[in-house]
Parts: sequence; structure tokens; C-alpha cells
Amino acid sequence: MLAFLDRASLCAQAGVVMDTVSFASPHGIAVENTALRAIISDIHGNLEALETVLADIKSQGINEIYCLGDIVGYGPNPRECVDLVRKNCVVTLLGNHDQGALFDPEGFNAGAERAIFWTRQVLEGGAGADARWEFLGELPRIHKEPQRLFVHGSARNPLNEYVFPEDIYNQRKIERIFSLVEKDCFQGHTHIPGIFTEDLNFLTPEEVNFEYRLGTQKHLVNVGSVGQPRNGVPDSSYVILDGDKLTFRRVKYDVDKTANKIYAIPELDRFLGDRLKEGR
Ligand SMILES: [Fe+2]
Repeated sequence: MLAFLDRASLCAQAGVVMDTVSFASPHGIAVENTALRAIISDIHGNLEALETVLADIKSQGINEIYCLGDIVGYGPNPRECVDLVRKNCVVTLLGNHDQGALFDPEGFNAGAERAIFWTRQVLEGGAGADARWEFLGELPRIHKEPQRLFVHGSARNPLNEYVFPEDIYNQRKIERIFSLVEKDCFQGHTHIPGIFTEDLNFLTPEEVNFEYRLGTQKHLVNVGSVGQPRNGVPDSSYVILDGDKLTFRRVKYDVDKTANKIYAIPELDRFLGDRLKEGR
């Protein structure tokens, strides 16, 4: 009961924090707009993927990492992933699955909902549980810098709106979202990396040979997913931002190890392991 009350009070505090729009680093660190940084998203409790991506980032001498949310949900290691993100990321946003673990999952399918209830149970136990809840409960939905916006979903609905590649055919939707973006918006949520241009194109990382200059036009950049890619490639995806130069990274990790952990947990559907192998 005590654990429940602790979490409930943290969530109540979080409600206040989460309804405010943050324009500063939640860690109080001043961030240079020209700084070299890595942007990761959608880890989904996949420890093998996160460790491999963090090692890839560090091997390039990059110390500033932003995380666009969904640290947990679906995957077998929510505690470890929260701890690693807390330790390594200078900016972290709230994702819809993080919110689902904190509160009640809304709009989740049956498998995702079972996974989130299991995730919540895991997060409620073990040493350091209170610190993890506090960290998750204080995550902002938006991070803003001059000419750059960072969200989990979209500029219009930072937590829940999907912007899929096929939305380029929904002119009204894309134009409305672009109207809310000063210059560039970095987002996740769909687990499909790529670049939306103002003239209604979607460019995959392959189409731009994994490098792109943001220049003077507006862009929406989806950084892809670390822990559950859905672009047909099982490798983890993230983005490096160096001034206005984007680099899309693909990193192979031990997919079988993560899938086998999922298969061993009855509350996690086998499909959640199978999909990792195909990147779907
Ligand atoms: Fe996600």
C-alpha cells in the first residue's frame, strides 16, 4: 500500500509538471544550438539495443544525448533502461508508453496494455523504484530551443499524435503541423526514421544516403527507434545532429537475446519478440 501511495503522490506532482510546457533543459543545463548531439527515441525497455546505441554514440566522442520518450513499454528491461537514460541523457521527454506506465494506458491494444501493466509492476519493485518514478513523473512533453522543437509525437500533440510517412498525402495535417514549427522539429513515436519536407515529401535515410543538411527550409525529422524499429530493418536507429547536418545511424544489437527474454515473460506477447527480428 505504501508503494502505491508513494507512486500516487509522485504522479500527482507529475500532473502539475507535465501540464506545463518546458522551454529549458529539464536538467537545468544550458544547451548550445550548435552542439554535437545524438537524438534517440523509443527504447521500449530493450536494454541490449540501448547499451549498443550508447556505446556507438560514445565511440564517436558525443556526450550530449537527447531522448524523445518511450523509455519503457513492450520490452523486458524497463528498470535498467530508465536508469541508463537518467544517467546518460541531458534532455528526456515523456512518451505515451511512459505515461501509460505512470497513469492508465489510453488507446493501447490488448498486447500493449498487458505489457504496460507488467512494466508498471516491475517499476514498482526493486531498489531505486522511487527515484525511477520520480524521474518519469517529472519528464516534460516538449523541449524547445531556438529554431528547434523536440517532441515524442508531433508539434500539435506532443505525446500522442503519429506522423506517418503516408501523411504526406494528408496536406491539411502536415501543413497544420508545420505551421506550429519554427524551423525543425525532432520526433519519434512511429518508429520509422526519415525526414518530412515542407513540400510534402518523406525522405527515408536510404534516400538521402544517411546524411542530410537541414538548410533554411523547415523539416520534421523522425529519429526512428532504438528498441523496436518498424521500418523493416531490425537494427537500432538514431540521429546525430551536428550544426545543421543530420546523420542517420543504424546499429546492430543482439536481437535474439532481447527476443528470448521477451519469450520467457508470460505477460509479454511472443509477437513482441518476433517483431524485433523483422523490424516491424
Ligand atoms: Fe514508441
